[in-house]
Amino acid sequence: MKAVPTSGALGAEIQGVDLASDLSDETVLEIRKALLEHGVVFFRDQHLDAEAHKRLARRFGEIFIHPFFVAGDDPEIMVIHRKPDDTSIVGFEWHSDTTMAPEPPMGSILYAVKAPPVGGDTLFANQYVAYERLSDGMKDMLDGLRAVHSDRRVAGPDSGRNAGRTTKARDDSDWCETMTLHPVVRTHPETGGKCLYVNHSYTVGFENMTEGESKPLLDWLMEWGHRPEFTCRFRWHDGSVAFWDNRCTKHLAVNDVVGHERIMRRVQIAGDKPV
Ligand code: SIN
Repeated sequence: MKAVPTSGALGAEIQGVDLASDLSDETVLEIRKALLEHGVVFFRDQHLDAEAHKRLARRFGEIFIHPFFVAGDDPEIMVIHRKPDDTSIVGFEWHSDTTMAPEPPMGSILYAVKAPPVGGDTLFANQYVAYERLSDGMKDMLDGLRAVHSDRRVAGPDSGRNAGRTTKARDDSDWCETMTLHPVVRTHPETGGKCLYVNHSYTVGFENMTEGESKPLLDWLMEWGHRPEFTCRFRWHDGSVAFWDNRCTKHLAVNDVVGHERIMRRVQIAGDKPV
């Protein structure tokens, strides 16, 4: 197994592994070590059907069931489908997945069933580096601060996110908002490193402050978190896989596909309470 770094900030392409095979414990450990080191790992030319995809995810933890996407028949799987005429997509803004949950997923494994010939790349940003590069004054200010995470911007009848896209979030009147407080700087449970932990999709303000009061600092932190020198970019082909650590990275799907289909299959792995 060989890991070739993708950028100076994060990411590595792992070569020499067939993810559909019965992986040895040693190989799973090597992949986990690479994930912890690089934040996101990529694989090419894989052949994962839905069962093999779930089997792979289970080697790293329990499967996390997405609470508000209506995306296929199997609750353990989310199919992210862009049809050729779609104008909007899932995940077009910088985010970590599902952070309104009290215990957000530790990671996601995304598989390209059908990649467009050009466009539809995914960008990733390293949130250890985003934290490390802050000034000591800003670090001191953020220490102990907690942020409110909610799914009200991305799901529910008022979010307006479903127009123009095939993969839909729940927008029925029975949907209920989930809101949780998380530290603005979290300590990674496996590496012990500190990461900036706010994102555009879910973070709506700081604890005990109005959204208006929170906005200037929150906007600054969210923009800071994806400076180009903190990022890498992944170009998809059929059979490509990205496995990201959702605790220390953010990502974004680029909405630049014109006239082509893009079909991705995602399985999320359960995580723990951010501290
Ligand atoms: C996501 O936000 O998980 C989707 C990423 C992608 O479709 O590239």
